[in-house]
Amino acid sequence: MSDTKLFTELLDFIRSETDRHLKKLDLPEEPAYLYNPIRYALAGKGKRLRPVLVHLSGRGFDADPDDLMHAGMAVELLHNFTLIHDDIMDHDDTRHGKPTVHKKYGTEAAILTGDSIFTLSQLIIGQVQSNTVQALQAFNKASLTVCEGQAYDLQFEGDATVSLDQYLDMISRKTGALLSLCAELGGILAEKSDDVCAELRSYGLNLGRAFQVQDDILEIFSDEENLGKSLESDVAADKQTILTILARKHDGWDEIKNSDADISTKRERMRSFYIETGVEARAREMSRGYIEKAKDSLSVFAGEHKKIMDQFTDFVLNRTH
Ligand code: IPE
Ligand code: IPE
Ligand code: MG
Ligand code: MG
Repeated sequence: MSDTKLFTELLDFIRSETDRHLKKLDLPEEPAYLYNPIRYALAGKGKRLRPVLVHLSGRGFDADPDDLMHAGMAVELLHNFTLIHDDIMDHDDTRHGKPTVHKKYGTEAAILTGDSIFTLSQLIIGQVQSNTVQALQAFNKASLTVCEGQAYDLQFEGDATVSLDQYLDMISRKTGALLSLCAELGGILAEKSDDVCAELRSYGLNLGRAFQVQDDILEIFSDEENLGKSLESDVAADKQTILTILARKHDGWDEIKNSDADISTKRERMRSFYIETGVEARAREMSRGYIEKAKDSLSVFAGEHKKIMDQFTDFVLNRTH
């Protein structure tokens, strides 16, 4: 079997096992006000990229499979908690190809759903047997960092003075911190040294930066059907994204940004502007740069497994949704 086929099968296996365990959570029926939206959110068609990373990282060091399953579920729950609250904060209507939790159940229920999914993630990460305290500490540290990133994201809305460095710090927190945690958990659960764990963190952080730059690009260059989520909030809220930050330096940008055209017309005009000015190409180059940086940390893995990690990194680079 070819390397690519083996890799795809491994990814599918980790995803389906994660979904199987999420279904087995055995959530109560009542209060339905809480547990129906939780079930709804967890049945969503996420890519399960974060549990995949936990498993791939941990497998490279022979971490205990049960610990990896617990950690994988915990990071996926944490991720879904952030998405539910993020969709409230970004006023988005669609996620995973269906109405967002607050759109379907109301904002009050969605807040509680997010809080409870976060709490479930805590209960599950607490069940790992190796290095439990270190895993919990890393988990909560990353959770807080994500909240900081989300705070900057909102604080930066409409602020055209935000620099590239400030943007990079923001995405390192809101997206990098969680992917960094996923890679690190593999090392923590295998009781690897601080040096190895630091290298894993660095891998995940750079992967996360690449991932968020791509997300900014996809929000403008892809469509809702492919991504399964609403794609106008960046423009509507005047988010500071890699594209807007690079575009600012070019003549004609303010005119497009400040025009009173409707959001979808504005988004189309921005798309053409990003192509014509080379902003899109530069953003893609940046994402590739972070992918290469991430790969520099992969020497912590031995021969065959390093190949799998390289494949995973390229898989993130080439993603289209
Ligand atoms: C979305 O992440 C949030 C960002 C960090 C950009 P994913 O694209 O991994 O979310 P899933 O696959 O829908 O869960
Ligand atoms: C991604 O936020 C980061 C978190 C959800 C913590 P975005 O707002 O950029 O991501 P999408 O586009 O809604 O998935
Ligand atoms: Mg959002
Ligand atoms: Mg957001």
